[in-house]
Amino acid sequence: MAPKKKGGAKKGKGEKKPAKVLMYHDEEYWNNRYTKHPEPFDWYQSYKELKALLTIYISKDQVNMNVGCGNGLLGEEMVLDGYVNVISIDNSAVCFEQLNARYKGKKEYTGLTWFRQDMKELKMLKDLTIDNVIDKGKLPFT
Ligand SMILES: C[S@@+](CC[C@H](N)C(=O)[O-])C[C@H]1O[C@@H](n2cnc3c(N)ncnc32)[C@H](O)[C@@H]1O
Repeated sequence: MAPKKKGGAKKGKGEKKPAKVLMYHDEEYWNNRYTKHPEPFDWYQSYKELKALLTIYISKDQVNMNVGCGNGLLGEEMVLDGYVNVISIDNSAVCFEQLNARYKGKKEYTGLTWFRQDMKELKMLKDLTIDNVIDKGKLPFT
C-alpha cells in the first residue's frame, strides 16, 4: 500500500491557496508593488465614495488613524476636505518614501501625518489618543 501523503486536510473547492493570502502580509511584496506602480492607487473605494459614510461616524475635529494606508489618496483627500488630524500608517518602506515625497513640507497637507509602522505593534500608540481607526483594504489581508 502506498504511504499516506503528509500535508493536512485536502483543500475544498474555491479555497485560496495559502501562498496567495500570505504574500499580502509580506512587506517585500508591497515594496515591489509600490516600486512597480508608484502612482497613487485606492483599493475598493475612493474618498468621494466613502465621504457620506465617514460623515455619519466621525467628525472632522477627531483624531483618525488610517491603518495600512498604502499610496492611495484617502488621507490626503480627508485633510483637504477639512479633517484636522489624519494619521496614516503603513509598514512598507517604499510606500513611506512615496508619502514623504508627496506630502513632506507641503502646507496644504497640514493635518496629515504618516509613519512607517506595523499596525500589529503600534508602539507609537502609547503617546497617542485615537478616536477612530479607518481600515480600508487592510484587514481582509490580515
Ligand atoms: C490592499 S493595500 C490597501 C491600501 C489602502 N488602504 C487602500 O485602501 O488603498 C494593503 C496595505 O496594507 C499594508 N500593510 C500590510 N501589512 C501591514 C501591517 N502589518 N502594518 C501596516 N501596514 C500593513 C501594505 O503595505 C499595503 O499598503
